Amino acid sequence: MISYEVYKILHLLGLVLLFSGLVGLLTVRMSGGKLEGSTKSLVFVSHGVGLVLLLVSGFGLVARLQLTQNMPNWIYVKLAVWLFMGGALTLVKRKGQIGWPLYLSLLIVFLIAAYFAVYKPF
Ligand code: HEM
Repeated sequence: MISYEVYKILHLLGLVLLFSGLVGLLTVRMSGGKLEGSTKSLVFVSHGVGLVLLLVSGFGLVARLQLTQNMPNWIYVKLAVWLFMGGALTLVKRKGQIGWPLYLSLLIVFLIAAYFAVYKPF
């Protein structure tokens, strides 16, 4: 059985991978660089694996916290953030030249997820 601690470490790894992909693509777009070859696979694989790890470890954490039966609303907020971060790669691919404002927006969405995970307000 996978422990709560291992799920938490996998959750944090998923977070690092997700943002590696998003910010990697953002910097390619900001610099006008080419998204091809190993740059392209690094961006897409990191984002994809990060998303899957966050979802699987997220539900693992839900199970270890014994919240599966009656999932509190803060987990639905997390799922909404997860869906947004899934679509964010397309947003960055199309609008990455916007640069800093887009980067700060992604960080604000992350802070919303972190706030709900740590404070569990409702
Ligand atoms: C992009 C999406 C997500 C982000 C940015 C995110 C972020 C975080 C952060 C920062 C933490 C706190 C880690 C800590 O306490 O050290 C956390 C914990 C947690 N997350 Fe996520 N998460 C995401 C997706 C999900 C999903 C999809 C689920 C559920 C299906 C989920 C469920 C949880 C749970 C249950 C915890 C543990 C809370 C605890 O230990 O008290 N997360 N998440």
